[in-house]
Amino acid sequence: MNNVKAIYPGSFDPVTYGHLDLIARSSKLFEHLVVAVLRNSSKNPLFNVEERVEMLTEGVAGFGNVSVCSFDGLLVDFARQQKAQAVLRGIRAISDYEYELQMAMMNRRLAPELETVFLMPDGKYSFLSSRLVKEVFELGGSVEGLVPQFVIDRLSQRVPKNGSR
Ligand SMILES: Nc1ncnc2c1ncn2[C@@H]1O[C@H](COP(=O)(O)OP(=O)(O)O)[C@@H](O)[C@H]1O
Ligand SMILES: [Mg+2]
Repeated sequence: MNNVKAIYPGSFDPVTYGHLDLIARSSKLFEHLVVAVLRNSSKNPLFNVEERVEMLTEGVAGFGNVSVCSFDGLLVDFARQQKAQAVLRGIRAISDYEYELQMAMMNRRLAPELETVFLMPDGKYSFLSSRLVKEVFELGGSVEGLVPQFVIDRLSQRVPKNGSR
């Protein structure tokens, strides 16, 4: 898939080693990967978009062909504007599949020229989600090995009571 530019859209609230595993795999497949934080998400985020972009930028520093930005509106419009041919999404378990399939089919309807590519992370990350990291951290549990140290530092600033409850 040389010459293919791909977009990896998501919330990344915050970036985890699961996301970074997918980014590492796809940086070998695609000529360029744009990791794109969705601005108009209905979810109630812990980190604002700028903070999420900063953490991702730190996370992808070792990859020469990966960049980070944010977008709002329809993914297909952003992909066209970026002249990207593919969208990257991750599948962890069967539970991801139905929602991801719905979105991929809707995006195909909106932009038939855009292909959605699914990758699976290393097995050790297949039960890892940003939501679970936040929950465990807020309750005082260790998230070492699940997110980079700079994410743990940000979590500590954001959730100061960690560990003292
Ligand atoms: N641990 C993981 N391993 C592989 N893919 C993951 C992991 N966590 C999230 N993803 C994938 O990364 C993409 C973005 O996920 P996420 O940040 O939760 O944003 P979204 O709000 O779009 O679900 C999704 O395709 C999701 O399936
Ligand atoms: Mg998700």
